[in-house]
Amino acid sequence: MKDLNGMENQDLMQKIVSLAKRRGFVFQGSEIYGGLAGTYDYGPLGTLLKNNIKDSWLKKFVHSRTDMYLLDAAILMNQNVWKATGHVDHFADPLVVCEKCNFRERFDMLILTETKEEGMVLLPSNPKEQKEMLDGLNIKCPKGGSHVWSTPRQFNMMLATKVGASEDSAATSYLRPETAQGIFVNFKNVVDSMNPKIPFGIAQIGKAFRNEITPRDFIFRLRELEQMEIEYFVKPSEWEKNFEYWRDEILEWMESVGLDMKKIHNVEIGDGDRAHYSARTIDFEFEYPFGQKELYGLAYRGDYDLSRHADASGQKLQYVDQGEEGSEVYVPHVIEPSFGLDRTVLALLVSSYKEDNMGDEPRVYLSLDPKIAPYKIAVSPLLKNKEDLVEKSKNLFGILKSEFKNVVFDDNGNIGKRYRRQDEIGTPFCVVVDFESLEDESVTVRHRDTGEQERLKIEDLISYFKEKLA
Ligand code: GAP
Repeated sequence: MKDLNGMENQDLMQKIVSLAKRRGFVFQGSEIYGGLAGTYDYGPLGTLLKNNIKDSWLKKFVHSRTDMYLLDAAILMNQNVWKATGHVDHFADPLVVCEKCNFRERFDMLILTETKEEGMVLLPSNPKEQKEMLDGLNIKCPKGGSHVWSTPRQFNMMLATKVGASEDSAATSYLRPETAQGIFVNFKNVVDSMNPKIPFGIAQIGKAFRNEITPRDFIFRLRELEQMEIEYFVKPSEWEKNFEYWRDEILEWMESVGLDMKKIHNVEIGDGDRAHYSARTIDFEFEYPFGQKELYGLAYRGDYDLSRHADASGQKLQYVDQGEEGSEVYVPHVIEPSFGLDRTVLALLVSSYKEDNMGDEPRVYLSLDPKIAPYKIAVSPLLKNKEDLVEKSKNLFGILKSEFKNVVFDDNGNIGKRYRRQDEIGTPFCVVVDFESLEDESVTVRHRDTGEQERLKIEDLISYFKEKLA
C-alpha cells in the first residue's frame, strides 16, 4: 500500500519510528533492560510535542469556554468503582491461545490479519463458533502443522494491583483503564463546589492502563497510555444536538493541530460493536501506515455511569435544574469526546512526515503546525568560531527564549546541516546571525517548509514571531 507521498506504508512507519528514536521523540520503555511490551518513554522533543498538544486541547476545550471544569483525579480508585461500571465483568477482549506453541492473540485481530478484509468479516460472539471459525482457517503453527486453538475466553484488560500491606481481596485496586470514571465519581463534588449551570463539562488529562493482549504498532496500542477526556453533562432531551455539536468541535480541533484531514474518517459504530455503556458512538478513524484505525471516539453514554454509581454508592448523583418554570431534578445525560494523546502524537507524525529535494539534496522534514512543533525557533551564528557572531546570537537566543520558551540554540556543524536537523524535528523558523547583522541589526529568518529566507530587523522579531506562532 502506498501513501499520499507515494511511499510504501511499511517504509513510512519504519522511517517514523526511526526518526522518533534518533531525534529524541519516543524511546522504547525500559530499553536498556530489553524493553517492556506496550510501554514507551517520551524523550525531550516528544515531551515538548505532547505538552503542546495538551496545551492546544486545554486552550480550545477548557480555557476558551465558561462551561468547562478541570479535574485531576487519582489513578487508583476504589475497586467498587469498576464493579459498578461493569468494567470488572465486561472490559475484556476474546483471547485465543495455541495449545501447541502458546501463541496468544485477540480473536478479532487474528481473524482480521488472516483474512486481510478489515471491517468486512462478520465475527461471531459465541466462543464455540469463534473456535470453529479459527479451526477452519488452518493457520500454520511454528511447531508444525496448524495451530491447535483453545476455546476463546474473555480476558479482562484491567491491570490489578494491591493497595496497602494487606494481602486480602479488599486491598485489590485497578490502575484506571479510562480517565472518565474519575470524572463521574467526582460529579457531585464538582456540582456542590462549583454550582455549574447545565450543560457543562468536566475535562481531564491523564494516564490510563490496559493490559492489551497484544500491544502493537509503536505507540498506537499501548498498555500505559494517556487520554484527554471530557464528560459533557446535558439535559436528557438535548443529547442529540449536543452530540452533533461535539462532533464538529472535535473535527475543528483536529484540523487546528495539523492532522491530515484527508486521512480522517467518521465511522458510526453499529449496535453490536459499541462499548457496553454507549447508546451511540462515532469513531474518528485515521489512515495510519498500518491501516485505518481508531484515533478518537465520541460516545453518548446516557445516564449509564451516574446511575450505576448512584445505585452502587447510595449517593444521589443528580442535577437540580433551576429553570424559569420551577426546578426540575434529573440525572444528566453524558456526551463523551475521548482523545488518545499517544495516538495524536502518532497521527501528527504521520501527517507531517515529508521527504523532498532542496538545493538538489534530499531532505526529511516534519511540517508540524508551529504551535505544535517542539521548538518554535532555532537561533544560530553563521560561523561558530567567530566570537562576535556567537555573542550576538546568544543574546538574541536569550531574548527569544524568554519570550517564546521553546527556542533552541544550535551551533553544531555547518549552517546547511543545522537547517536539515531543524527541518527533521519540525522547527518552523531558523534565525541566523551573520556578519551583516553586526552592522545593520538584522538577521536571516529561514522558513522550514519552503526554505525561503527573509531579512528582518532584530527589533521586529518579537512581534513577527508573535503573529506567526499565535
Ligand atoms: N472513556 C472512553 C474510552 O476510554 P476508548 O475508545 O476505549 O474509550 C478512548 O478509548 C481513546 O483512548 C481511543 O480513541 C484512543 O485514542 C485511546 N486508546 C484506547 N486504548 C488505547 C491503547 N491501548 N493505546 C493507546 N491509546 C488508546
